Amino acid sequence: MELWREIIERPYTVIEGYRRLWTEQIGREKEFYHLVRDDFNRTGDPIKLLYLLARCVKAAVRYNSRGEFNQSADNRRKGRHPDRMAADILAASWLLRGRVRLTSVDYAEVVDEIGENDVLYLDPPYQGVSAGTDPRYYGGVDFERFVSYLESLIERGVAFILSYDGRRGQAVYGNPLPFGDELYGIEVESGRSAQATLLGRNEVTYESLYLSRALLERIGLSPGELAHGFWAGGFAQLPLPMADRL
Ligand SMILES: C[S@@+](CC[C@H](N)C(=O)[O-])C[C@H]1O[C@@H](n2cnc3c(N)ncnc32)[C@H](O)[C@@H]1O
Repeated sequence: MELWREIIERPYTVIEGYRRLWTEQIGREKEFYHLVRDDFNRTGDPIKLLYLLARCVKAAVRYNSRGEFNQSADNRRKGRHPDRMAADILAASWLLRGRVRLTSVDYAEVVDEIGENDVLYLDPPYQGVSAGTDPRYYGGVDFERFVSYLESLIERGVAFILSYDGRRGQAVYGNPLPFGDELYGIEVESGRSAQATLLGRNEVTYESLYLSRALLERIGLSPGELAHGFWAGGFAQLPLPMADRL
């Protein structure tokens, strides 16, 4: 959140800080990444986090049990070029400045603030990739508690979008959501599975995206109109013209 705050409120400080780190690394990228990572774990400096995000494997943030960032560097790449990063940061700041409030609280705490014109986007930790020994919990989120939260959103007619699990080839991740035609599932193709390719299989990964009925009504899409593109309580793949309307 601190990084977002800096990007939005002080974009030029972030741009310059990132450029300095990126330039300093040239010729000693591997060693420099470890120095920055140690520094970030000591100080929590958000600009160092941005550098780590740009350089780490698959941009995937990982922390160890002591809360330290421990993802390795992708040493085939130097990280996003500072000029392009500058453009991204300015665009994000321009879009969000004065329009957002950043908070870091339990998801259930924002429920009272949802107004009737709001659209809620939920991106919880995926069950399929983070389930431990007990599949009802994932990334610290209790499945039943999350389901009853969704239930309360549906009862209140909240327009929401939920990204949640998916499948690779025929393997479906996670528990299904028990909402019948209150939720419309879409599968978004997100590329070939690296793991399956390594194993000689040609499997495509799909991410699931659910839209609440209230959202569809708001954007004027009726279930009948969607019949060939979506289907209630099941999945269909997202036809691209639909994506434009979301
Ligand atoms: C899939 S990630 C979201 C990624 C985010 N959309 C992005 O693009 O960076 C899931 C997030 O849920 C957060 N999370 C886990 N438990 C939570 C809870 N009880 N309340 C709110 N957020 C939670 C995790 O910290 C994690 O950042």
